[in-house]
Amino acid sequence: MNITYLGHASLHIEFEGTNIIVDPFISGNPMASHINIADLKADYILVTHAHQDHILDVETLAKNTGATIVSNYEIAMHYGAKYFKVFAMNHGGTYTTETFSAKYVNAIHTSSFPDGSYGGQPGGFVLTANEKSIYIAGDTALTYDMKLIPLQTKLDLAILPIGDTFTMGVDDAIIASDFVECDRILGCHYDSFPPIVIDKTDAMIKFKAKAKSLVLLDIGKSIEV
Ligand code: NI
Ligand code: MN
Repeated sequence: MNITYLGHASLHIEFEGTNIIVDPFISGNPMASHINIADLKADYILVTHAHQDHILDVETLAKNTGATIVSNYEIAMHYGAKYFKVFAMNHGGTYTTETFSAKYVNAIHTSSFPDGSYGGQPGGFVLTANEKSIYIAGDTALTYDMKLIPLQTKLDLAILPIGDTFTMGVDDAIIASDFVECDRILGCHYDSFPPIVIDKTDAMIKFKAKAKSLVLLDIGKSIEV
């Protein structure tokens, strides 16, 4: 699969003609001003939780593309009530299509909509397609529940927040990568706002010291898994 970083925690994932967008927050991110939402393809939009910095462009994208919004029950109902196509799930459940599966897994965080309404419990996804698997942690603290993932899935990439303040920082993300047994990490949820600005060179050095590879992509750039 091809994974493009769209800034903050937003991703575009493509494999065999299937397009998935994760947590679209583009129009509110000045650093992503070169990304044109109208150009983005999506068959599915995966939403980890209801915070503004993960849902801002969900409706625009869903309107443009007709994509199915896949998320927890409360978030799916929120969009279903607005007549978007949705698939509702909850922790432990797996959404399976002909080309991929996405399991909704635990995250330690909160999940209210911008107006304060209930956004269910936050989560992450284990996405498997083309015999490759990636972990999209979502916004989360370090949690022992991460150890459950490698019991079932051999990961090829772990996409972890590293910005601290609202999620794990670098030191906890290194432990998280041990817990999920994956040494190739794509960092996200850093530098977008002043409280989550990090020293990127220091982060790379810390991961490298543990024989792990931390990939930090420029917005709009891709990696292959
Ligand atoms: Ni959040
Ligand atoms: Mn966030």
